[in-house]
Amino acid sequence: PLGKVRRAPPDKILGLTEHFNRDTNPKKVNLTVGIYKDDHGHVTTFPSVAKAQRIVDSHEELNKNLSYLPINGNEVYSKRVLDFLYRESCPDNAELLDKDKISFVQTLSGTGAVAIASKFLSAFISKDVWLPNYSWANHQNIFSKNGFENIHLYSYYDLSSGQVMVEKWLQELEDAVGRTDNVKTPQAILLHACCHNPTGVDPTREEWHTIIDKIHELNMIPIIDMAYQGLESGNLIDDAYLLRMCLAKGGWSNGLYLCQSFAKDMGLYGEGVGSLSIVLPPAARVENKLALDSQLKPIIRSIYSSPPGYGCRVAKVVLSNEALKQQWFRDVQNMVQRLHGVRHKLYENLQWPDLVNFEKQHGMFYFTRFKPKQVNELKEKYSIYLTNDGRLSLSGVNSSNIDYLSTALGKVSEM
Ligand code: LMR
Repeated sequence: PLGKVRRAPPDKILGLTEHFNRDTNPKKVNLTVGIYKDDHGHVTTFPSVAKAQRIVDSHEELNKNLSYLPINGNEVYSKRVLDFLYRESCPDNAELLDKDKISFVQTLSGTGAVAIASKFLSAFISKDVWLPNYSWANHQNIFSKNGFENIHLYSYYDLSSGQVMVEKWLQELEDAVGRTDNVKTPQAILLHACCHNPTGVDPTREEWHTIIDKIHELNMIPIIDMAYQGLESGNLIDDAYLLRMCLAKGGWSNGLYLCQSFAKDMGLYGEGVGSLSIVLPPAARVENKLALDSQLKPIIRSIYSSPPGYGCRVAKVVLSNEALKQQWFRDVQNMVQRLHGVRHKLYENLQWPDLVNFEKQHGMFYFTRFKPKQVNELKEKYSIYLTNDGRLSLSGVNSSNIDYLSTALGKVSEM
């Protein structure tokens, strides 16, 4: 009954912005959500995206047609994204497209992709998923709300060393999954493609080789969450390395799931532009691909019927026009350069080595390793907002707040 409904806890990331908005301290700083802001604290539109918007807006006839998109999304958008992901980012496996081995749908950003993948997997293949500890605060929520019955955590980040615990992680999988009949009951595993959220620490390429071998051996189902492509190296193509490596391994018997988003790398946050692709194993027949395509549709139809039309048109124009695409590549580089600059300036003030050790930590977030009481002190005493796990969004740091921030961070680090 209604009377028994209890309040849910506030969202661990977006809930903090609600709190921030109520804060009356003029010095307040919001370092919670992963939204790129420029040095003036503005959420920017990349020049490439702004130009694409102008092109989209000038197509008057098209814009008068606000009809529905197909359930699985805009056809040209889908083709461009597939080409970008599998021809351009993974040229060695481009034949997957030629052989029609990828089931694809446009999604409401990365969250929508993970949610649709979860609904599909939990309905047909597996209700067990492994998430890294730590992970994006929303992952657990998505899987548990979309049919997964068992959510396991694998050891990922070692708080004391700031390193990924690969051996421990793989031993845990071996002990748990290795002892099950993993052919009959395969288990899914979520992998962050790059710029692990929240820690910013990814396994090395060698470590990834070992990890991929193990999860393949255990017949696990990889779900790659690629929300920050380009934010690691500044190069969109380079940053698709995990996808390339998983495809090179090949033969994922229950499919490889890529959940991809243009929220961060095109700044299309509120437009909800992304994709889910399921790469079928080589032995899959045409009928298998058609079955997957058809099963994704009723899932989408049951939630939002068909995806929204505007943002995907903008992304489509960026991806279709070579000059704009090259501009986009530079825009992403510039964003990463500013984030590096912020890391360097904070390092000058604080001398925390992880800030500038890009081999070790990179991306939009700096993981402070602060304890909850330190995060709380920052909030209560200085009106500086981090997520409770100690993640600090570097994009909220700018010339006007860096001194105030550095002083507060320095003080709180001594607690
Ligand atoms: C984040 O981690 O801050 C972003 O992915 C935004 C969000 O929706 O949580």
